[in-house]
Amino acid sequence: MIEFKNVTKLYPNGKKAVDDISLSFDKGEFIVFIGTSGSGKTTSMRMINRMLEPTSGQILINGKDIQEQNAVELRRKIGYVIQQIGLMPHMTILQNIVLVPKLLGWSEDKQKEIAKELIARVDLPVDFLDRYPSELSGGQQQRIGVIRALAADQDIILMDEPFGALDPITRDALQELLKHLQQELGKTVVFVTHDMDEALKLADRIVIMAEGKVVQFDTPDNILKNPANEFVESFIGEERLTQAQTNLKTVDQIMLRKPVTMSPDQSLGEAIKVMRSRRVDNLFITDENDKLLGLLAVEGIEKNRRRNVTIGDIMEEVMFVREGALVRDALQRILILGYKNIPVVDHNDHLMGLITRASIVDMVYDSIWQDTDFGEIDDVIESTSVAEIEMAPEKELIE
Ligand SMILES: Nc1ncnc2c1ncn2[C@@H]1O[C@H](COP(=O)(O)OP(=O)(O)OP(=O)(O)O)[C@@H](O)[C@H]1O
Ligand SMILES: [Mg+2]
Repeated sequence: MIEFKNVTKLYPNGKKAVDDISLSFDKGEFIVFIGTSGSGKTTSMRMINRMLEPTSGQILINGKDIQEQNAVELRRKIGYVIQQIGLMPHMTILQNIVLVPKLLGWSEDKQKEIAKELIARVDLPVDFLDRYPSELSGGQQQRIGVIRALAADQDIILMDEPFGALDPITRDALQELLKHLQQELGKTVVFVTHDMDEALKLADRIVIMAEGKVVQFDTPDNILKNPANEFVESFIGEERLTQAQTNLKTVDQIMLRKPVTMSPDQSLGEAIKVMRSRRVDNLFITDENDKLLGLLAVEGIEKNRRRNVTIGDIMEEVMFVREGALVRDALQRILILGYKNIPVVDHNDHLMGLITRASIVDMVYDSIWQDTDFGEIDDVIESTSVAEIEMAPEKELIE
């Protein structure tokens, strides 16, 4: 789909920013460029939509040399997101989302239609479209920023460190959102970052650059298993290499299957019975097709037990991870958000299983025994008290 053939870029001052790179990306791939500062990542990316022209070599998109296409038309077909995703404060959310479609001359109806579709995909209400950015929380604004990048329905999207300045939790959530939407919509994304964790999490394949050259181009898995040279090794970091195996396990490999579920129309009395007999203090609520709707915790029952309500009336919103996500990321969520366990859903939000603190701690212990370098693991243990894990399922219900 995108092909670099012996591409070199010399800036007028004689600086060789990109030095004879050859790469080929497939349609629907998530490609991440990573490397030290000044290694030529941005320059490489900007040549894809002809914001910069190669000094020599060729870039092909769908087999066609982009040099032979009209630069303006080419750019319209390629989305480009720079740095932090800022919204225009004086424009409504709708106007912000359809910025590019409007420039492309889409009809108002079509603009509105895409905005509605996208806002629903990030679980925000449709009437937010008429609000201004300042009327949304920071996290909600960031979600709008992500869908704005997708609004013009371009097949290729270039993103240059879009999440660079965000705090780790927001960043984590947006990475997940972007990856999910990218897969669902089948976009080809070329993404630049400094952050190896981000690269490992998002990329189908990673391009590692140093001094204008491609040092390694491979899947995250292969790069961790077989770093091309010492530069790559040091870039990945010792800790990641020794923990590569643990880190690359996916949530569905370690989840418990068949968690206890109930339907929203059942009563609190029924929920109490189920919690008792199954010895759990959390129930996941699903519809008749197993779609995850919410969570009922024992605390919620206690608060509402004298009222005549159904489970559906009092269930809470629930955070989840998707199948295929790395355990490392689930771990961060469980620890940062203080969840006892976290449900795993498939791409249609159907509940598949549950990651418990206990199952993660088992895994962390396993890796401790293999490895004397505690580092990250130490933090995990510190914030996960064993008592908490053992007590949780046996918590008593007050009649
Ligand atoms: N317009 C320019 N004129 C001259 N040299 C430039 C120009 N733009 C970039 N360079 C140089 O080319 C090299 C590659 O720059 P580029 O911006 O592609 O790096 P990068 O990998 O994106 O770096 P960073 O991670 O810091 O964003 C650097 O040495 C940079 O100083
Ligand atoms: Mg750059």
